[in-house]
Amino acid sequence: MDLGGLRVNGERLRASLETMAAFGATPGGGVHRLSLSDDDKRARDLFVGWLREIDLEVVVDEMGNIFGRRPGLDESLPPVLTGSHIDSQPNGGRFDGILGVMGALEVLRTLHDEGVQTLRPVVIVDWTNEEGSRFSPAMVSSGVWAGKLERDWAYSRTDKDGRRFGDELQRIGYRGAVPAKSRPFHAYYEYHIEQGPQLERLGKTIGVPKGIVCLHWYDVHIEGKANQVGPTPMEGRNDALVAAARMILAVREQPGELGGNMVATVGEIHNHPNSRNIIPGRVDFTIDIRSWDDDLALEAWAQLSRSFAEISEEHGCSLQLEEIWRVQHTPFDERLVARVEEVASRLGYGTHPMVSGAGHDASYMTMLGSTAMIFVPSKGGRSHVEVEETSWDDCAAGADVLLQCVIESAMEA
Ligand code: GLV
Ligand code: MN
Ligand code: MN
Repeated sequence: MDLGGLRVNGERLRASLETMAAFGATPGGGVHRLSLSDDDKRARDLFVGWLREIDLEVVVDEMGNIFGRRPGLDESLPPVLTGSHIDSQPNGGRFDGILGVMGALEVLRTLHDEGVQTLRPVVIVDWTNEEGSRFSPAMVSSGVWAGKLERDWAYSRTDKDGRRFGDELQRIGYRGAVPAKSRPFHAYYEYHIEQGPQLERLGKTIGVPKGIVCLHWYDVHIEGKANQVGPTPMEGRNDALVAAARMILAVREQPGELGGNMVATVGEIHNHPNSRNIIPGRVDFTIDIRSWDDDLALEAWAQLSRSFAEISEEHGCSLQLEEIWRVQHTPFDERLVARVEEVASRLGYGTHPMVSGAGHDASYMTMLGSTAMIFVPSKGGRSHVEVEETSWDDCAAGADVLLQCVIESAMEA
């Protein structure tokens, strides 16, 4: 069989993506499928059914990670692993994460239909709670699998309604018995949308990331004094929201002041009691800092912490800073990155070398073994929003690159 000539079924990939997009579909054409929600459960149930249809051995571990294993000719060899995540952002898109899972499924369906016998086993994976928007932090279950985060700490994380990760995992029936502990793998490929504007601007089909930026997450808690807005003079107020506003502007300005390749964002804010005629007594907000240079990101945080202390003092507020999560920047395996580039070029696609500004489970996988990613263009560079869009042709192109990369790795002795 000419394995190099094998291609996925783009129509079937589209149908799988469209079927999955119904779980948590939003009126604006996006997806709201938060981790461990009922929609996540329904999508998982269908996914597991699809894995069984092609005779994969399904394992669910204690973090709810779902693995589907296709045996190789030599079962003693570590497998080739590929996948991504089924959960989405709130009112997010139809491609982030799920493309990497449905793309991997399409690869396995193709191997199954063509009766391809690979030397090594091939394993598909859905990592639980990659997004980290319902339960922070992100990538928590690949992090536990990689031995970088504690299982019980992950179980104890709560959503905004106080529900625990561990309880929700149990409730949807995906708290498996198998320990979430890494096993050796030969290669890990994660197929994903770019989530930025570069590929579209350059007219390239395949992005070849050399690695992922660092991700540093913090929570800021400001305590002021709530009071009646009318009788309370402007002087002497302890307005937590005004203090927060100044801090948020400092976050916005920090990357420009320090130079280098860094972004910093406040994405979530909770104002208490959030009433138009009460001076805000408490504000909590999040900070996300990313860079290819970990030291720069740490320096940014050190400077921000100092200016936050000054701002809170000026407003007579108290301040508590919490470090939620840090993942260092992760360079991928150069040999696998070169393979992605070679395969894409051989298939006739324009490629572009880049750095992933988005976080992925591949960050933790890189700490364990050979890892690479494959990117396809995001229309208008938009992602984590309902209008997130990638053409069906590009979806199939990336899946073809994944198929060939998986075959090459799975045939290696
Ligand atoms: C994950 O989606 C991230 O980049 O935050
Ligand atoms: Mn993703
Ligand atoms: Mn995402």
